[in-house]
Amino acid sequence: MIIPIKLGSRSYPVHLDTGLRYRFPELTQHYHQNQKWVLVTQRSLATLAHSVILDRFVQSGYNMSIVFVGDGESAKSLSQMEALYDRLVALNCDRSTILVSFGGGVVGDITGFAAATFLRGIRYIQVPTTLLAMVDSAIGGKTGINLRHGKNLVGSIYQPVMVLVDPELLESLSLRDRVSGLGEVIKYGAIRDVNFLEWLNQNLVELIQENNWPLFQETIDRSVRIKGDIVARDELEGDLRRLLNFGHTIGHALETTAGYGFLRHGEAVALGMLAAGEISVNKGLLPFKRWIYLKDIIHQCPLPDVPEVSEAEFLLAIKKDKKMSGGKVHMILLEDLGKPVIN
Ligand SMILES: NC(=O)c1ccc[n+]([C@@H]2O[C@H](COP(=O)([O-])OP(=O)(O)OC[C@H]3O[C@@H](n4cnc5c(N)ncnc54)[C@H](O)[C@@H]3O)[C@@H](O)[C@H]2O)c1
Ligand SMILES: [Zn+2]
Repeated sequence: MIIPIKLGSRSYPVHLDTGLRYRFPELTQHYHQNQKWVLVTQRSLATLAHSVILDRFVQSGYNMSIVFVGDGESAKSLSQMEALYDRLVALNCDRSTILVSFGGGVVGDITGFAAATFLRGIRYIQVPTTLLAMVDSAIGGKTGINLRHGKNLVGSIYQPVMVLVDPELLESLSLRDRVSGLGEVIKYGAIRDVNFLEWLNQNLVELIQENNWPLFQETIDRSVRIKGDIVARDELEGDLRRLLNFGHTIGHALETTAGYGFLRHGEAVALGMLAAGEISVNKGLLPFKRWIYLKDIIHQCPLPDVPEVSEAEFLLAIKKDKKMSGGKVHMILLEDLGKPVIN
């Protein structure tokens, strides 16, 4: 199936199907003009990247090279970006070069930022391999790297030319990363689609425990449609796209203060949603019963304990967050399930 992301001249398709990987070279054929292609991935994904992409593309006549970036948040750094630019120059990349990102959100954010900035912008394709990347980071064109002061402080909004999603690529994903993706999935239900939330309530246990690819396909399909719709109406993050930050103000602060690597991004978002939900109740916005319903869904996911952080450090991290503006923290709260507000 194809889910269109409608952005005028920057529109692109998200191809989503179980087993789609066998059709990747055919789906990208339109862009194949004997130019240099560069596959960007991580060493731990090298075997998968070879069998799913590199070997098949080379067999199909593509001039493709592979480059590796690091793992974890520390890979999203200025120094690693410079190393990647150097590799692209060494490979004689030019403005016709297409980058293919093969990995989770880390590889996607780095590749997207490299594509946005190398030679003032070249094309790129997202092939997400984590659930979080399939439902979230590969869609919408946000790219970014970290500074020592905080996450994603440097970046751009730069859309890929297509996104290729094969849920079967999740087979080797760890349980924690699977749950992390589900954190963002629950967020979509909470801010936008109560029916989806109820569907998740029925299916979360199976999504956590089983490799039921049709079930994953439906999860990804529904999530991408929600995110795609929001991005199409508000690409540059005005108030609408900002609603996607539900759970992220406290989530990001937890991620930073606990030290990168302690929490997965989606785990931090799930913990952040628990906090934002509770604040919504305390402010008299979200009815208590609705809150318990959402909380029970989030608690179906095995989450790590909230890391112990000092209050001062935690508040400082919140203040450094991008969601601060005019000296105030803008938090996304819920008036009801499916009805977020900026507070
Ligand atoms: N650009 C956006 O809109 C956006 C949105 C959300 C998150 N993000 C960013 O995404 C990052 C988190 O992404 P993530 O959760 O995908 O983490 P990640 O990219 O770090 O991947 C998690 C781990 O899974 C491994 N992995 C990837 N695919 C695998 C597979 N198929 N099988 C086995 N292992 C696999 C990776 O090598 C890595 O070790 C954060 O940096 C976050 O800021 C960006
Ligand atoms: Zn997120």
